[in-house]
Parts: sequence; C-alpha cells; structure tokens
Amino acid sequence: MIYFIGAGPGDPELITVKGQNIVKQADVIVYAGSLVNKGIIDCRKETAAVYNSASMTLEEVIEVLYDGERAGKLVARVHTGDPSIYGAIREQMDILDEKGIAYEVIPGVSSFVGAAAAIKKEFTLPGVTQTVILTRMEGRTEVPEKESLESLAQHQASMCIFLSVHMIDEVVRRLSTHYPVTTPIAVIQKATWEDEKIVLGTLEDIAEKVKNADIGKTAQILVGDFLGNNYEKSKLYDKHFSHEFRSAKE
Ligand SMILES: C[S@@+](CC[C@H](N)C(=O)[O-])C[C@H]1O[C@@H](n2cnc3c(N)ncnc32)[C@H](O)[C@@H]1O
Repeated sequence: MIYFIGAGPGDPELITVKGQNIVKQADVIVYAGSLVNKGIIDCRKETAAVYNSASMTLEEVIEVLYDGERAGKLVARVHTGDPSIYGAIREQMDILDEKGIAYEVIPGVSSFVGAAAAIKKEFTLPGVTQTVILTRMEGRTEVPEKESLESLAQHQASMCIFLSVHMIDEVVRRLSTHYPVTTPIAVIQKATWEDEKIVLGTLEDIAEKVKNADIGKTAQILVGDFLGNNYEKSKLYDKHFSHEFRSAKE
C-alpha cells in the first residue's frame, strides 16, 4: 500500500499521528528532502529504504512507489506541509490510477497555518475579512493571468503567498495596486522550524526588512488587515447570540 503523507511545516511533532504511524511502519520512504525536516523520518524502522525525491524525476519516484507496492511493501511518500498545496501530488496519483495501484492520502498541517500560528494571528477576523486566498506569484512557472496578484488584491482579503519571497519587491508592487501601503504584512521563514525567522512590517517597508533579514526562500508572505488590531468579536461566543448549542443569556 502507498500512503501520501503531509509532513507538516517543519516541527517534527506537527505531522499527524496517523502520518507518523505510517512512517514508523514503512518499508520504503520517499520524502521531499528539500523541504521536509529530516527529523520527521527519524522514527523509521532501521531497515526502511529511504529516497530523497529532491534529486529524482517523476518517473523515478513512480518507479520506487510502484516497485515497493508490487513487492507488498508499505510505502510512505512524504510531502511537506499538506500535499494538496503545491505538492505535485496529482500527477503521481494519476499515474498510480492508470496502473491500478491503490493509495491513500493523509493530510498535513500546511505552512500557511504554521505561519499564522508562529505570529499568533487569525485569518478570518469578523468585520475584517472572511476569506483566505492561497496563491503564489509567477516565476519560472506560470500562474493563470486571471489570478494575478493585482486581481486577487482587489478583495483585500487575507492572503498567503507561497514560493515568492525571492521576488518580494515585485510582490509588494503588485499588492500595493489595491491594498493601502499602510497594510500590515508578515514574512515568516521556516515557520515552526528551530531557525524560524519572522519579519513584520507594512507594504511600505517590508521589502527592505526582508532583505536585511536575508530571507530569500522557504517563506510565507501573509498580508491583510487580519494582521492589525481592529475587528469585531465573534458572534459564536457572544452571550446575546443563541445558536444550536447555546441559548442567549441575559
Ligand atoms: C512547494 S511549496 C509546498 C507547500 C506545502 N505543500 C505546504 O502545504 O506548506 C513550498 C513553499 O511553501 C512555503 N513553505 C513551506 N514550508 C514552509 C515553512 N515552514 N515556513 C514558511 N513557508 C513555508 C514556502 O513558500 C515554500 O516556498
């Protein structure tokens, strides 16, 4: 059996219990070595065969998964964060489907929530925004034009920008077409890792701060007024508000 597993953002304790149980029992482990904390696979069996997919092609990865499964082994394909977000998991699953190979997906804690936890913020503040946009800026690979940062910025929602910190000047320029320049923005590098870095600022000064902090990769750019301090309290815990599980109190 093959399991695609979300390893979480970095801290080895942020893999799910289910994911860790599979890693512990796996005979074959293929992990994304460029981003997955190696501590995640420290719990493996001594006999487990380990492959780092960072230096492998899609075909090579599939060959290892396929051969392992055909030999009746337990195979763990370990992705960073959650595999459904920039995980290139779909192309692997489609080939396995074509070959009639069964697999399961175990989700993980994505780095965008790891980053929010690192700075202790809530994306969906009442009276501010109820929408979270996950995106990236185009670089060596494209993003559909209708999803340009400028067009997404029009919503002034909470935005999490992956894979783009090395282009921070351009990210800021595009966001500033719709977010006021006073909008708060946070850059979190290696959220939940021991060497995590946090830089806070506004659209006006964040690019310089990021460069001064020498952050050029593996970072989340979080932007929006959810990073500020003005919001309404939630109705869920409002004593005058009744719902399925609680009546309004005087
Ligand atoms: C290929 S994507 C994988 C995303 C992953 N599947 C997830 O759910 O977080 C890699 C990008 O995710 C972000 N990333 C991954 N781990 C991170 C972390 N611990 N802290 C901040 N950003 C991270 C960075 O933007 C990085 O360039």
